[in-house]
This record gives sequence, C-alpha cells and structure tokens, in this order.
Amino acid sequence: MSRPVAFVLAAAAVLACCGTLYAAKPGPAPQGDPARGQAVYTRWCTACHGRGPGHPGTQSLQVKYGGKLPPALEDRTDLAPPVTVQFVRHGFALMPPFRKTEISDAELRDLAAYLARNRK
Ligand code: HEC
Repeated sequence: MSRPVAFVLAAAAVLACCGTLYAAKPGPAPQGDPARGQAVYTRWCTACHGRGPGHPGTQSLQVKYGGKLPPALEDRTDLAPPVTVQFVRHGFALMPPFRKTEISDAELRDLAAYLARNRK
C-alpha cells in the first residue's frame, strides 16, 4: 500500500471512530447545575479569577472595568452562559482555552450556570 493511501485510510479510521463517539453522547441537558458549577470554577478558574489580590484575571478585570463591575467573576451579575462558554473554549489574552478533556460540555454548562446564578 502506498504511503498516501495508508495515511488517508488511517485518517478515515480516526474520523469514523471519533464521529461514533460524539454521536453516542447523550444530548445536552438544557440547564446546568450551579452547585456543580461552583466546584468546576474552584478547580479551574480561581487561580486566576479568585477574589482579592494575587489573581491575574481578577487584577486584569479590575483595570479593565475600573471598578464599574466586580473584578471577581463570581460576583458578576451580567455573565450570560454563552459569554462564559466563549471565553472558556477559546481563551483570551493570558487566559488559556480549556479542552473538553479538561472541562467537559456538561461541566461547562454547570460552570456557566454558576456564573449566571445572580444574573439580572
Ligand atoms: C491563567 C489565568 C486564567 C485562568 C486559569 C482563567 N482565566 Fe479567565 N481570564 C484571564 C485573563 C487574564 C482575562 C482577561 C482579563 C482582561 O480582559 O483584562 C480573563 C478573562 C475572562 C473572562 C472575560 C471577562 C470580561 O468581562 O472581559 C471570562 C468570562 C473568563 N475569563 C472566565 C474564566 C473561567 C470561567 C475560567 C475557568 C474555566 C477562567 N476564566 C480561567 C485569566 C485566566
């Protein structure tokens, strides 16, 4: 078998495998669970977004909003779930993107629900 053909077959096998994995997953639950989301937040986000000094995300947001919005994400009342999803999956500036192997879609839904719990 020529190399290009072997490569294409291998790629097709990988796609077929992963396509099946994704297809086998249950559909997304409509709403996340804020209590579980708090645990996800504590694990992945507080190093940078925790309250008080020593948190680069919090300090950066303090500068960005100049005190008009609370610098710690947990205290915000404006974070709609799609905004949280966008930042978590794609990252921004110093903030890294998080993969589904780190924060699953279900965990991200919970996390977004947690950050939206006080939304007005
Ligand atoms: C390595 C540090 C770091 C980690 C970890 C991190 N962030 Fe960030 N995050 C930042 C920085 C820095 C910014 C940009 C602040 C700015 O715009 O000045 C930011 C911005 C954001 C914003 C945009 C807020 C706004 O009003 O502009 C959201 C939402 C956000 N992060 C959510 C999260 C969530 C949820 C997690 C956990 C999954 C997380 N971040 C983990 C550093 C981090």
